[in-house]
Amino acid sequence: MASFLFVKTEPKHVIFPMEMRTFVTPLSILIKMNDNITIAIDGVSGSGKSTMARTLAKKYGFLYVDSGAMYRAVTYYAIQHHYLSDGELLKNVLSADLNKIDISFAKDGHTILNGQDVEKEIRSMDVAAGVSLVAAVPEVRMAMVMLQRAISAHNSVVMDGRDIGTVVFPNANVKLFVTSDPKVRAQRRLDELKAKGTEVDFESVLKNIVERDRIDSTREVSPLTKADDAIELDNSYMSIEEQNAILDKIISETLAKKTSK
Ligand code: CDP
Repeated sequence: MASFLFVKTEPKHVIFPMEMRTFVTPLSILIKMNDNITIAIDGVSGSGKSTMARTLAKKYGFLYVDSGAMYRAVTYYAIQHHYLSDGELLKNVLSADLNKIDISFAKDGHTILNGQDVEKEIRSMDVAAGVSLVAAVPEVRMAMVMLQRAISAHNSVVMDGRDIGTVVFPNANVKLFVTSDPKVRAQRRLDELKAKGTEVDFESVLKNIVERDRIDSTREVSPLTKADDAIELDNSYMSIEEQNAILDKIISETLAKKTSK
């Protein structure tokens, strides 16, 4: 007769061991089981963190915050007001002006500085050349970190930057640290800039990337560094599809481990 009578199992046969359960719980369920998830993506300049963060936020319905765009907006403000030129930054004057700098994001993700859409301007090479100097000013960092936390309050969020897993959200649910070969990064950034109609050569882009990595990693306040509990990902030779598959795996496994604790 019915063979199902013979498959009546002891509980030990139906409960997965803890390590196996982490692989079988679907990501959508893990996300529902956690309220307000934070994914922190840090890493070197031009390693594709923003694309990665934007893709993840769209896929999971989280808020995306580009913290680099905020430092770029402050830098653009400094250039406009002649506080920054030829690599010289008037730090005190800029710090005193911080209460006059209002940064927000439009629905389409564009960066708004004091009511003006500055998305195109903040991606220029002039801004790229000065942003690491501006981002090393402690008062600027303090103001940006406060803003980053305020924007993210009561939301699940994916934020990318340099100090997200170490300073902004040290308790983030998932922390990634992205690295990539400097030449590969420079080529990707060159393609991006050219696609937007900016005339620039490979050597200048490479030089800027290497210089920003140097300043960002050696500054005194919140230097670019991997959080102890961050997962490192070198995407130099990874296709977008491979990267997406790896990210899904990392995020599912990390959330599953934390949920089962
Ligand atoms: O996209 P890309 O890697 O070129 O840089 P970004 O994320 O737009 O950041 C621009 C610059 O802002 C970095 O080189 C850092 O100097 C600074 N930054 C920072 O200090 N801390 C962050 N959380 C994000 C960016």
